[in-house]
Amino acid sequence: MNILMVASECEPFIKSGGLADVVGTLPRYLKRLGIDVRVIIPKYQAIDGRKYNLETLPYKLTVKVGADTESFRLKTYTTDDGVIVYFIESMRYFNRPGIYGINGVDYPDNMQRFIFFCKAVLESVKALMFRPDIIHCHDWQTGLIPAYLKTVLKDDGFFWSTSSAYTIHNIAYQGQYPANAVEVGGFSWADFVPEKLEFYNHVNFMKCGICLADAVSTVSPTYAKEIREFNGRGMEIVLNSRRDHIYGILNGLDYDYWNPAKDKNIAANYDKADPSGKKLCKVELQKICGFDIDPDAFLLGCVSRLDGQKGFDIIVDAMYLLDDKNIQFVVLGSGDPTIKRYLTEAKNKYPKTVAAFFDYNESLAHKIYAGSDLYMMPSKFEPCGLSQMIALTYGTPPLVNNTGGLADTVKYYVDETKTGNGFVFNITYGENFTQTILKAEAVFKNKKQWESLMNNAFDSKFSWEKSVLEYEDMYQELIDNKKIEVATR
Ligand code: ADP
Ligand code: GLC
Repeated sequence: MNILMVASECEPFIKSGGLADVVGTLPRYLKRLGIDVRVIIPKYQAIDGRKYNLETLPYKLTVKVGADTESFRLKTYTTDDGVIVYFIESMRYFNRPGIYGINGVDYPDNMQRFIFFCKAVLESVKALMFRPDIIHCHDWQTGLIPAYLKTVLKDDGFFWSTSSAYTIHNIAYQGQYPANAVEVGGFSWADFVPEKLEFYNHVNFMKCGICLADAVSTVSPTYAKEIREFNGRGMEIVLNSRRDHIYGILNGLDYDYWNPAKDKNIAANYDKADPSGKKLCKVELQKICGFDIDPDAFLLGCVSRLDGQKGFDIIVDAMYLLDDKNIQFVVLGSGDPTIKRYLTEAKNKYPKTVAAFFDYNESLAHKIYAGSDLYMMPSKFEPCGLSQMIALTYGTPPLVNNTGGLADTVKYYVDETKTGNGFVFNITYGENFTQTILKAEAVFKNKKQWESLMNNAFDSKFSWEKSVLEYEDMYQELIDNKKIEVATR
């Protein structure tokens, strides 16, 4: 079996959120199953070619974007696990400071950039003579690949045995563009129909992926159900038309990387058997934040993209509503300038109990996961969420809204039965974040109860070993179907 993973982000090269973690880790687990898996991403300016000693391959390739002929090069790198990663290098489209835009504003030519990327991927596999059984595409940036395979390339013999899978990491970002994407992308107007490219007189890249991939998956079972029923951002009908081909596969976490017993970014290492180092991590975090060094203060942390999805409005509310309690808040995030402004106002008002850092900072992220008592994740919706899984493995119980992957991974702690690994409230039922923080604080004040909750957190593992088998089953089914299709061609 051979798989080409196509995405716009991949750890450790480039990351804005959990997509990069998944694309960076899943291939390693597929490789362990003996699958030839390769990854292809854009070569952004932020990817340091010298650091990774990227090799430039000897091809000079071109694709058309509208009337322009765009040339590109392929670079490559092989990870320690033996996964080959290709980078598409285009001076015009990817040699820029941001991934999708700059200062929270998208690049105006993202349509052209990702049309180019999808076409360049398909051109690259031909040059490489790598004929994938499955092209596994992730999120809107890659949604046109299944569309090319089912339209422009449907009679191209090179791809006769190739199927496509499409994973939705976040349906809120769809890549919707005017109908002229048909021409810029080199499609035929005959394919501008609702069953293929057209979506309310636009070309919506995500819709193309959902309609035209051979299988569709998303990153948790609950989100798979939610997006078909009420949270599909206008895609409900499209998703229901494919309901028999939609898989909900929970992401795993890379526990080799996220491990408080070995983490070099934190003040002291610790684990479930000896969690004493976590206290030192809390002291270090309180120092970084300029808070009082107080073991009894309830320290709440959050590391996140600053985005409406993540519920920062209620986090900021809580900062004001709980100002008379011994509660400290720390947030690390980058993104939406409006959220940044609200957090800055709260921080300026309460410098001793609210801290906010506005960059992308891997090392500080680790210190927050380790040093906090409670992890805040009141997302309005959350396809899977990796942050709550990271917090759990650092013995930091999460407080989450009951949605998507959060509902699949966090259960309310009940002391009578000693079950549950965090705190859950339900925005839809009018339950309140601030009140739930106070309930959590009551448990925190009871050392025995908190210890039992922390133990449950440490024990919560969401390993890739299980999820990777579900992906393998999905791929195998596609390969079997393709064999039947090819035989009857
Ligand atoms: P999403 O993919 O929606 O952003 P996830 O919870 O799946 O949410 O993944 C977020 C990932 O990005 C986590 O690994 C988190 O630690 C990381 N992250 C988000 N913002 C930052 C930041 N400002 N600095 C460092 N890491 C961050
Ligand atoms: C998206 C989602 C997040 C998920 C991540 C990886 O960014 O917002 O919930 O964990 O993708 O699948």
